[in-house]
Amino acid sequence: MLLLPLLLLGVILPGGDNEDVFQGPTSYQVMMISTFVNSTCAQNQGSGWLDDLQIHGWESDSGTVTFLKPWSKGNFNDDEMTELEDLFRAYFIGITREVRNRVNQFQLEYPFVIQVTAGCELHSGEAIESSLRGALGGLDFVCIQNHFCVPALDSGSRGQKFCALMSQYPGISDIIERLLSETCPRYLLGVLDAGKAELQRQVKPEAWLSSGPTPGPGRLLLVCHVSGFYPKPVRVMWMRGEQEQPGTQQGDLMPNADWTWYLRVTLNVAAGEAAGLNCRVKHSSLGDQDIILYWGPPTSIGLILVAIIVPSLILLICLALWFWRRRSYEISCEP
Ligand SMILES: *[C@@H]1O[C@H](CO)[C@@H](O)[C@H](O)[C@H]1NC(C)=O
Repeated sequence: MLLLPLLLLGVILPGGDNEDVFQGPTSYQVMMISTFVNSTCAQNQGSGWLDDLQIHGWESDSGTVTFLKPWSKGNFNDDEMTELEDLFRAYFIGITREVRNRVNQFQLEYPFVIQVTAGCELHSGEAIESSLRGALGGLDFVCIQNHFCVPALDSGSRGQKFCALMSQYPGISDIIERLLSETCPRYLLGVLDAGKAELQRQVKPEAWLSSGPTPGPGRLLLVCHVSGFYPKPVRVMWMRGEQEQPGTQQGDLMPNADWTWYLRVTLNVAAGEAAGLNCRVKHSSLGDQDIILYWGPPTSIGLILVAIIVPSLILLICLALWFWRRRSYEISCEP
């Protein structure tokens, strides 16, 4: 246990360049979702996440963990992993049985879903904070943190009943506490280190502009697409010169299949005011070389005109030359 604070110090103060440390994920969470369809049918799903990156899956038929990254085991050995697997298997069997037996006591009605999220997060101070949250149908009903079981405010009596129940099983509370305060922080530090080449990589975005569906007569929807960047934090703005435009609408950050991100940022403007606007992208992979793309529909219309007129003109000139040469040839051949 003495090692933990030292390890922490090592992570937080790696000789001055600690700005790099917190790029990439800072938390590990296990999600356990139990869907109770009716009194005989229940399904369990499990997964493990570094922030929003899934690194563990759960095969509920065999009750085994799947490792989605070569470094998903972090610094845990096979014995430790097997022990955790056993615990999760016991959890899923236990929760299915216990919840079924207490459907009336907790006034539950089929079908319902119980989601449990447990994990720990590295904070920029020196602390790792751990917690477990239980939700029913997407609404929190209980939070367990630092040995305390706290019912959620709007959970009615369910949260209180749950905490009362937990206090009757000190053995289970001890296991949860050990997982939260000891196992999770040790695993988090190990896995952040094992996966750091991938977790701290920098991938530059590509950006392009397009126009969206017309928002109304005489108006344009300017769309700035930014794609393929990692890590997630990004800033995309519609600007006029150095002036950020109010009314910029940011879409949701969407994942790409290659574990990079995509973002779409739009601006609704009067058609006459679009010229001169630009989309500016700031991202850690770009340093201070922001990507700046200028909106230029007049130029693109101009380009289309040029693309039609220039070849036509060239064709006309060729034809004219050809006729002229033919004529002059004919003339010169006249005896
Ligand atoms: C429970 O749900 C399953 C799957 O939908 C169904 O096959 C089964 O007949 C249901 N059992 C009862 C008792 O309603």
